[in-house]
Order: sequence, then C-alpha cells, then structure tokens
Amino acid sequence: MEKIRWGILGPGAIAHKFVQALLTLEDAQIKAVGSRDIHRSQEFAKTYGIPKAYGSYEELVRDDQVDIIYIATPHSAHKENMLLCLNAGKAVLCEKSFTINADEAREVIRLAREKKLFLMEAMWTRFLPAIKKVREWLEQGFIGDIHLLKADFGISKGGGPHNRLVDPALGGGALLDVGIYPVSFASMIFGKQPETIKSLVHLGPTGVDEQSTILFGYEQGRMASLCSAIETELVNDAWIYGTQGYIHIPDFFYAKKAKLCLRDGRIEEFGPEFESTGYQYEAMEAMDCLRNGALESSIISLDETVAIMETMDKLRAQWNLKYPMEK
Ligand SMILES: NC(=O)c1ccc[n+]([C@@H]2O[C@H](COP(=O)([O-])OP(=O)(O)OC[C@H]3O[C@@H](n4cnc5c(N)ncnc54)[C@H](OP(=O)(O)O)[C@@H]3O)[C@@H](O)[C@H]2O)c1
Repeated sequence: MEKIRWGILGPGAIAHKFVQALLTLEDAQIKAVGSRDIHRSQEFAKTYGIPKAYGSYEELVRDDQVDIIYIATPHSAHKENMLLCLNAGKAVLCEKSFTINADEAREVIRLAREKKLFLMEAMWTRFLPAIKKVREWLEQGFIGDIHLLKADFGISKGGGPHNRLVDPALGGGALLDVGIYPVSFASMIFGKQPETIKSLVHLGPTGVDEQSTILFGYEQGRMASLCSAIETELVNDAWIYGTQGYIHIPDFFYAKKAKLCLRDGRIEEFGPEFESTGYQYEAMEAMDCLRNGALESSIISLDETVAIMETMDKLRAQWNLKYPMEK
C-alpha cells in the first residue's frame, strides 16, 4: 500500500501521543518535524527516529518529502499554521479546537477548497472504534428516538497560572479545550446544531471560562446537558437516552467501551481496548481520504467543523468572553 508521508508541526505534549500512535501504522511514514526551536525538533526527531528536524515551521512546509502535516500548536496558532501549510501545497490534519472562532475556520477552509487540498479537524474521539459502534447502534435505531444526551468533560489542569489552558492569548479556557468534546459529541448525536442555547459560566482570574454548564435544545423537546471544566475533575461519561433504551460511554472522549441497554432487557457491550494511544484512528481516516482523493472526511465534515465553532462562538458571546486577537 502507498505510504503516506507525515510532517509534525509543533512538538508539544499531544504531538508525542500522536506520533506514538502513528508509529504503529505500517502505511505511515514520519518524515519531518518542525519546531520554533531547532533543539526541540532535534530532540523530538531523535526520540522517534524521524529523519528531518527543522528549526522553523516555514522550513517544514517546504519539505517535498511530506504529504500531510499534523498541527499540534495552541488554538491561537492554528489558523496561521494551517494557512502556511495549505499555501505550501500540503494536506492538513489540525488539532481541536480547529481555530479560535468560526470566522477563522471559514477563512482556512476557503483556502483548502480553493487549492483542492485535504483538511480535517483532529476530533479523534469520532474515529475511536467504540464511538463508531455507537453510531452503528444509533443508525440501527436500537434506542428509538433520541430524547436526551448528557456528557461532561472536566479536568483539574494543575500547572499554575502560566498553563496555556488559562492564557487568553493562546485561546485558553475550558470550552475550546475540553468543552469542545461534549459540544462536538452533541453535534454528532443530533446531526445538527441546537436551536436553543442556555448556559452558566464561571470565569477564572485570567478571564477565561473555568467551568460551564451548557443546555442545548433541539426540535420536539430533545435536549443535551453538558459540562466543561478545567479546575474540576469530572466523571467524563456520556449517556444517550432514547425511547427504547440508552447507551452509556464511560470516559467518552477516549472511549474504549460502550454499553447498549434496552428496555426489553437486552444488553450489548462493546469493549475491545484500543492499542497505543488511540490517535491512530484519526490518522487512518486522513490517510484513507488522501488515498481516495477525498478533500474532507465524511465523519467530521468541514461544514460541521464550522458549525461547531459557530455554536462555541454563541456560547462565548453569552459569556462576554473575547480573546485578545478578536478585540
Ligand atoms: N486530541 C487530544 O486529545 C488533545 C490533547 C491535548 C491537546 N490537544 C490540542 O493540541 C494542541 C496543543 O496542545 P498541547 O497540550 O500539546 O500543547 P503544548 O504541550 O503547549 O504544545 C504546543 C506546541 O505548540 C508550539 N507552539 C507554537 N506556538 C506556540 C505558542 N504561541 N505558545 C506555546 N506553544 C506554541 C510549541 O512547539 P515549538 O515551540 O517547539 O514549535 C509547543 O510545543 C491544542 O490545540 C490542544 O487543544 C489535543
């Protein structure tokens, strides 16, 4: 099978986990890594046996041995990094949140479409085998009409006041970092954005959202109840309730298991644990798309990525939360 050649842009915490997963795929080759600091890229390259290390993102995108670039920088840098890659003719897989807001997302997507280059938000949860199984259960109608979704993602960030999670200049706050998971999950389950959005937020000392409770309303009384936090560790499960039963997904954002419980007493459990760090599944989707000439994924389309950003923009508008680059 034709090997897909990857470049890594921004060798931070998540890039390590992504590369560990990529190394398990026989049809993937990691050709180069780029950092703003040559020492960091050299160290990263040495750790994973990557042949090329660059001291700038500009040099990385000029490497003609690279087909697709994985962007793992803070949210605030995504737009600029994606434009750089696309203008150099590279396909892109970019970490969530895709951008700071929907306007930025639209700008990047416009360029990808103009240049006919593959682009995808790295919403890795969507591609996990357990979540694929949940989509199958829903498509088969096992739980009947979906009435209610409950999903939370809360962590206790640690790391003091200099953590990127609380830095407004880097797009900090719970929503863009962890809240995006339940928001995106609701989008996947209901197949649309909510008609009604209500929320409560607590802003921390740096002005970003420390925690929030979010209620989404859809037609015919359907609703979602979601929590997001960076100073409170939550039980990060998702529950999808329907007229004929429910689905429970423990730790849904890195789901290894899912359980289907029907009103007639039938129970089905899906539980083969995934290998490595789990990020290989989104990489496999990106590589399948590249081989098939698809410019976007059907599991998370670019229009859906924009729609999710719009929903998060509406939430931040309710909170009067603007980032410095938006003022
Ligand atoms: N999918 C997931 O499960 C998951 C988990 C965690 C994070 N993420 C996402 O991945 C992205 C990166 O998160 P992370 O936790 O890996 O962050 P991180 O450890 O801080 O790493 C980010 C990297 O981006 C580069 N960078 C570029 N501009 C920067 C700036 N202005 N300030 C700081 N670093 C900058 C740095 O690399 P150089 O300076 O060496 O170039 C740094 O190593 C975020 O968008 C986050 O939401 C996803």
